[in-house]
Amino acid sequence: MASVAVGLVAFLALSPFALTEKVGYLESTSCADPKGLVTCYKNAEERYTTCINENCGGGGEACSKSCGGSISCMNSKCPGLGIDCMNVCGAEQSALQMDCAGSHCWNQVYSCEYQDTVIGWIDQYPNPNRDGLPFFPAPDNAPGSCSCNLGKVDRKLYLGTQQMTTCSNNETNLNQFTKVDDITSYGKACRCCAFSSIISSIWDTCPDTKPSLLGADEWFSGVLNPGDWDECGPYLENYDCAGDLGFGREDAGAFSKFWSPTSMPTNGTKTASNIAGAITSPVSGNTFTWSMGETTNAFGRTTSPLIHTVTVTSANAVVTGKGKAQATSDGESTATGTSSSAAESETKPGIGSSLGVPSWTMAGFMVAVLFSTF
Ligand SMILES: *[C@@H]1O[C@H](CO)[C@@H](O)[C@H](O)[C@H]1NC(C)=O
Ligand SMILES: *[C@@H]1O[C@H](CO)[C@@H](O)[C@H](O)[C@H]1NC(C)=O
Repeated sequence: MASVAVGLVAFLALSPFALTEKVGYLESTSCADPKGLVTCYKNAEERYTTCINENCGGGGEACSKSCGGSISCMNSKCPGLGIDCMNVCGAEQSALQMDCAGSHCWNQVYSCEYQDTVIGWIDQYPNPNRDGLPFFPAPDNAPGSCSCNLGKVDRKLYLGTQQMTTCSNNETNLNQFTKVDDITSYGKACRCCAFSSIISSIWDTCPDTKPSLLGADEWFSGVLNPGDWDECGPYLENYDCAGDLGFGREDAGAFSKFWSPTSMPTNGTKTASNIAGAITSPVSGNTFTWSMGETTNAFGRTTSPLIHTVTVTSANAVVTGKGKAQATSDGESTATGTSSSAAESETKPGIGSSLGVPSWTMAGFMVAVLFSTF
């Protein structure tokens, strides 16, 4: 029992070797205020460089320049800078990019590109506040939204992996067991249900999208395979993942379908791209705020305000969307658009997504797997 708890507490540990590529996902030309967006992104990049130079040891500037700001490049070329430090700076840049997008590209906030931008921030920020993130996840079938709801995939992955810990520590269930073997089996079942929830998060949320574009391969090689997913069949048959083990709860991801190693869903074949329709007035109204979370960052102080207040640029910029859908402006990100067509926009090239395995999950799962007595 004690060792189970140790393994699962460490589940929350942050990875010291997070590798996140920094890319601006948005196409400025499809934004309400392209020039404003470009300038805003430049400023965010400058802040990133300054942050590295001030906080992450010597030589940061030269390294950042030669690497074009790519964190993985900087980590391999100049490991002395410290990847955690760079991630914190990267998270600040991502947060500023979210502000930039909300302000200058308000017509694209449900797009794959914007949703990716937010996921980029979540993956880098040490303790992100996942509730109340602006326009994230996008409402289903919102005008101009991503054909694969990336935000929803990310949220489900998060809730399902969290539930692994909750499940393993569920006293109601644990108290029924008297035999060590029963406890061991139960722990394995929690893990198998969590693995199955990872598959459901990807395959069931976006059945048409190629799973490898949503991080499936990384989840398999980094988490499921080392965690003996191939032995999960009997556990998924003998335990009630949704009910007794809690994975059906709303705040655990509301999973209802539990795939097993021997009955995997069919792979989608498409890329993710934005569906037809356009947001023609700012969803948020003229200003919106969002909160990063309670954490002071790795430098022991904040480099960026924890509460972001964003002013949307004057909406007289012409948006060249063909759809007639209009989003509500009650700040609730409720899509009331008339565009519910799932037809993929012809004008948008498909993109992948930033949905890799978040560093914290990878590290946590590995620790849990290695130290657990299951
Ligand atoms: C389906 O996708 C997964 C993840 O990318 C991959 O491992 C698997 O081989 C694919 N299956 C088929 C039948 O193509
Ligand atoms: C704990 O187990 C009970 C009984 O099986 C279940 O109903 C409940 O949802 C579980 N609690 C959590 C937080 O998962």
